Amino acid sequence: MCGIVCYVGSQNCSRIVIDGLSRLEYRGYDSAGIAVHSGTEIHISRQEGKLAGLEEKLRLSPLSGSTGIGHTRWATHGRPSENNAHPHRVGKIAVIHNGIFENHLELRASLEKEGCVFSSETDTEILAHLVSQAIVSAPSLKEAVRQSLGKVQGSYAVAVLSEDNPDELIVAKNASPLVIGIGEGEMFAASDVPAILKYTRKVMFMEDGELARLTREGAEIETMAGEAVTKPQKEITWSHIQAEKEGYKHFMLKEIYQQPTVIEDTLRGRVSIEGSGVATELMGFDDATARRIRRIVLLACGTSYHASMVGKYWLEKLAQVPTEVELASEYRAREPLVDPNDLVIPVSQSGETLDTMEAIKIAKAGAARILAISNVVDSAIPRSSDGTLYTHAGPEIGVASTKCFTAQLAALYMLAVHLGRRRNTLTKDQARELLENLMRVPKLMNEVLKKNDEIKKIAHSIAHLKDALFLGRNLSYPIALEGALKLKEISYVHAEGYAAGEMKHGPIALIDENMPVVVVMPNDESLKRIVGNVQEVMARGGKVIGVVSENEQESAGIEMERIVIPACPPEVSPLLSVLPLQLLAYHVADFKGTDVDQPRNLAKTVTVE
Ligand code: AGP
Repeated sequence: MCGIVCYVGSQNCSRIVIDGLSRLEYRGYDSAGIAVHSGTEIHISRQEGKLAGLEEKLRLSPLSGSTGIGHTRWATHGRPSENNAHPHRVGKIAVIHNGIFENHLELRASLEKEGCVFSSETDTEILAHLVSQAIVSAPSLKEAVRQSLGKVQGSYAVAVLSEDNPDELIVAKNASPLVIGIGEGEMFAASDVPAILKYTRKVMFMEDGELARLTREGAEIETMAGEAVTKPQKEITWSHIQAEKEGYKHFMLKEIYQQPTVIEDTLRGRVSIEGSGVATELMGFDDATARRIRRIVLLACGTSYHASMVGKYWLEKLAQVPTEVELASEYRAREPLVDPNDLVIPVSQSGETLDTMEAIKIAKAGAARILAISNVVDSAIPRSSDGTLYTHAGPEIGVASTKCFTAQLAALYMLAVHLGRRRNTLTKDQARELLENLMRVPKLMNEVLKKNDEIKKIAHSIAHLKDALFLGRNLSYPIALEGALKLKEISYVHAEGYAAGEMKHGPIALIDENMPVVVVMPNDESLKRIVGNVQEVMARGGKVIGVVSENEQESAGIEMERIVIPACPPEVSPLLSVLPLQLLAYHVADFKGTDVDQPRNLAKTVTVE
């Protein structure tokens, strides 16, 4: 989720690149840098922190030249620091990268064996070394980049600048966005359209597996196999703000739609189907420690708490470790018993939530081992933990968390399989099957997202109502809680999430024709019983909206509104069944005209008591 801006032309590129980067602020960043070719040499300026820091540095020591590449970093490998900021330079080559090189550890080890010295902790620097080696014998910069990219696996949008080629840039794309902008005697490239909209509205969107040589005269685009590609130019008619949202009306909707990619990114380079394992290089404990864990305590707030509740089911079932889930604010309010053989897992999107931070202090004082799950590299919670399993969801702008929730689920599922293998509670075959099921989730998520129009209609039919009830059992219980939280936080509709089995102990008294009841009922071992709950609701005149599995017969005879999700193994159903609830909440809120991305009274990062 880094930002990329490149320029080749006749103007001073420094100003254009920095201006472009500033338009990518909505992506969030922790460091920034620029490389400019002066005509004879490449000069680089990098700075940790916000772009303003780099701007100040450039004000004091300006860089001038008319070919340049710039980058804002959202850390995935290596903490935010000046050394880890892009561009990375090796010899005459400077590189910027958005994405993740999956095989970076093995490539780094083999390059180090050959004598390469690394100056950062990033996966990106590998490419700078590879191109720098390849350029010695390759016929051109383009070929050197092509050969080097042939060695990396993973996602990337990259731009490469060489000291020997003052008037050209090589850019390439695989699974990370890259757009080329066409000017008069000048060319641009960027990770996102808003970065270059001020300069041109004529663009070409690069596809995966394409590489381009940019000069003032234009772009020569090829496939990785070397076949020339002719691309239609497109005229961008979106406003700047629309472009930031990639045409979606709100960031929340964009983030809901990003989820298939986010799950792929979170799994990328970590899940090995062949080895039936999960690479957990950053967890901060070895296999012996994994076997010694007596209890897991998950600490979190809000949506992260709901993800943790799902995690409990997986950790107990797959790794067979007794697991407790605690609201961080309650944990810190009492005097919890902590054991040195506890593994305490704070789960926090922002990595800065005050209650979770304070709860960690208690767990640390009891000598428990702390493994964070967070989306923000080097934020306060990872910094105070022994290890961190990062989600790779990119910055989440909508205050209502969506993509970070499912990324947390993916991380917790991976962790449960990892511990299950280490503790021998899962066979190799069982682990392989579980991981294969997880890898199929992004494709299935895309199927769910196709139901958007149906869900919108249902949302409009209930938008005038004042209350709603969400029910689920087993793995779907936390999803019901999450569905209710989403609805209340953005649409201000009073919503309650309940374990379906608890309905008869109280909430059933609320049921009437004005109380829509959303029932999360995928095809799992609890289905029969939850069908019983649905019948109880209907018998009392309640309107039921069921999130049900495709081709499932148990609920077939019931006359309720249905949102059908694809058939899937029960373990992965939470990653799918939450999507319709996010969309339902979104459309109710949008229909009511609330401030979807910044609902009243809520903050994205809660650093207060
Ligand atoms: C979710 O939609 C909320 N905005 C909120 O509940 C959030 O999940 C909570 O504040 C925890 O934040 P964290 O994950 O950054 O710690």
